[in-house]
Amino acid sequence: MNLADARAALRSARRIAVLTGAGVSAESGIPTFRDAQTGHWARFRPEDLASPGAYRRDPETVWQWYAGRYADVTRATPNAAHHLLAGLEREKGSGFFLATQNVDGLHARARSGSHGGRLVELHGNLSTARCETCGTVAPLPDPETFTPPPTCPVCASPMRPNIVWFGEYLPEDALEAASHAFRGAEVALIVGTSGVVYPAAGLALEAMGAGGVVIEVNPEATELTPYLSHSVRDTASRGLAALLEPDQPR
Ligand code: OAD
Repeated sequence: MNLADARAALRSARRIAVLTGAGVSAESGIPTFRDAQTGHWARFRPEDLASPGAYRRDPETVWQWYAGRYADVTRATPNAAHHLLAGLEREKGSGFFLATQNVDGLHARARSGSHGGRLVELHGNLSTARCETCGTVAPLPDPETFTPPPTCPVCASPMRPNIVWFGEYLPEDALEAASHAFRGAEVALIVGTSGVVYPAAGLALEAMGAGGVVIEVNPEATELTPYLSHSVRDTASRGLAALLEPDQPR
């Protein structure tokens, strides 16, 4: 399938499922998970901070790391790729489903999930915390005034970052909804994700297996590339513009 076919498939599809990863936020200046390890944090591996074991051993350090990342994403703003996906949802309405592996909240800030479609943050969100005792999820205070750890507004127990850590399961309802949307999608878009980490590969292949057209947007080839209908080898903002923006008059 070539770019013109991919554009036509997107235009005519009523059911669209999108999966995004760190690459979609690169143009907002948010480093990918691994690139984020600079300065003081360079001596830690992400796996040593983003895990239940790390939190049990040293909750203070883990919270400080997340508080820093929370401050960084709050300063960032959604880029053209986030806005193009929100625009696609405005066009398709309830047939639109967006699953993101990102925890930066930028899709929600671009108003994805507010135009009749659905946004699912598979790995949680940096701007909220979850009570370790009663499960209440609450927004963090403004980063300027936030001193971790937060306490639960309902039961006053300590709260943990509301993130799915290494070794933890993704929320079953979110995963089930994503799987359902990808199996039913006429077109699936896989944007800015390396495709090696579960569930990225699974969702893309489920959509292919069910007869959908699956289009990747990524400046680099990924492990998924050989199996997909078409790949746009470009950044998220330029690649999505090439797929979604109206034809330019000659
Ligand atoms: P990765 O860091 O594995 O992959 C980022 C992808 O973005 C790569 O394939 C890049 O080629 C691509 N990329 C870079 N710049 C881009 C741009 N401007 N536009 C489009 N794509 C670009 O990130 P994810 O696939 O999101 O898990 O990783 C998935 C999960 O693994 C993360 O959510 C995290 C990680 O370990 C948890 O935190 C639980």
